[in-house]
Amino acid sequence: MFATWGEEIWAFLQRSTAVVIGLARPSGELIYASDSLRQLMGGAAGPVSLADELLAPAFDTLHQDVEGELLFSGRMTFAANSLRSVVGEIRRKQGHLLLLAAYDVEELMAVNTEVMQLNGEISKLQREIALEHSRLQRTLDELRETQAMLIHSEKMNALGQLTAGVAHEINNPISFVNSNLHSMRQMVDQVLGAFNELEMLISQNGSAEQQAMVRDIRQRYDLDFIRGDVVDLFRASFDGMTRVRKIVESLRSFSRLDESDVNVVDLRESLESTLVIAQPSLGDRVAVTLDLDGVPPIRCYAAQLNQAFLNIIINASQAIDGHGSLAIRGRQDGDDVVLTFTDSGAGIPAEIMDKVFDPFFTTKPVGQGTGLGLSIAYKIVTELHGGTITVDSSPGRGTTFTIRLPQDVVRHGNGSATG
Ligand SMILES: Nc1ncnc2c1ncn2[C@@H]1O[C@H](COP(=O)(O)OP(=O)(O)OP(=O)(O)O)[C@@H](O)[C@H]1O
Ligand SMILES: [Mg+2]
Repeated sequence: MFATWGEEIWAFLQRSTAVVIGLARPSGELIYASDSLRQLMGGAAGPVSLADELLAPAFDTLHQDVEGELLFSGRMTFAANSLRSVVGEIRRKQGHLLLLAAYDVEELMAVNTEVMQLNGEISKLQREIALEHSRLQRTLDELRETQAMLIHSEKMNALGQLTAGVAHEINNPISFVNSNLHSMRQMVDQVLGAFNELEMLISQNGSAEQQAMVRDIRQRYDLDFIRGDVVDLFRASFDGMTRVRKIVESLRSFSRLDESDVNVVDLRESLESTLVIAQPSLGDRVAVTLDLDGVPPIRCYAAQLNQAFLNIIINASQAIDGHGSLAIRGRQDGDDVVLTFTDSGAGIPAEIMDKVFDPFFTTKPVGQGTGLGLSIAYKIVTELHGGTITVDSSPGRGTTFTIRLPQDVVRHGNGSATG
């Protein structure tokens, strides 16, 4: 019956996704289905029956008695895809059932609009999620930084109290050992002087026998040796005492618990006392040189700055395998002071250069490094003092950290004048 239609039109209708055409026997068995109808029926390729496939209207509600009768007109849905409906009619024609329908363009557009709305909502939600994610990430970063700072201030407190406590404890015995040493030296002088006088008396007035006895005593007790050696012993002991005093002084100046936060310091003094604290790590492995000629005193948070120096010095020491060197240099540059710490250690690989100041970044084994040292130094230099800290390294040759500090942290606008 389609023979009169042009072949092209026919082929077009066959392929059309908008128009639905089907021809079935009265039993429902389909003898022709356009591509679109097959799609609606779930892409079934073999023989299928409208009786199984038609969901609404149900096939057995179609009255097929009268020839030419319109059996159904309206919306049709199929079992395989009940969400999609088409609009059209089913007629009885020449003993067959002819199904002609088309997709409802308005419905499609409505669905489309709904889908677009949903898409819009989805991308809005996605944006919100991304925003929430970055908010969470920021909070996490802040928390980690706060944690780092807490650990740091805990460490500082503990270290400060420890060093101040140790300094105090050592001070007491030092003073009495020192004063006892002085008394002992006087007493030894007196004993030796008394023996000399006795010896003189006997050599002038004693019998030959007495003089021999005195010589014997002097030899048996090694008095000639003692006379010379006792001087050296006392000198070495007084030197030792001076060194202990210096260490105690360094401990105090390192922790600076007895001073207010901001004070004017001589950087050489700061660095020297920090080096005393770092001495156990440096040992005689690392040759340290200090070149701070012409560096003026600066007003800063001295205890905090010492902590930053210590972290950098310890890192340098840890980067040196075996023997090596650490050169600390300082110079004045306008209103600033610039310090460089150059070590002959392993260096920093280029790929981690921009991570070394991150809190918790460490290349050291678990338990050995917290990865906080440089992030703390960074905070102290930049946030507390308004300075800068940078790193430069050639792997295998060594590393240089450069710190730039304002000469006066208060005038610079960081910190308050308390010292
Ligand atoms: N002078 C240096 N030479 C080579 N690498 C260094 C030097 N200073 C720092 N680094 C690298 O930077 C990383 C981070 O240093 P940072 O001081 O922050 O943490 P850490 O030393 O690993 O641990 P912590 O200081 O808490 O003991 C180190 O693990 C190391 O890889
Ligand atoms: Mg460190």
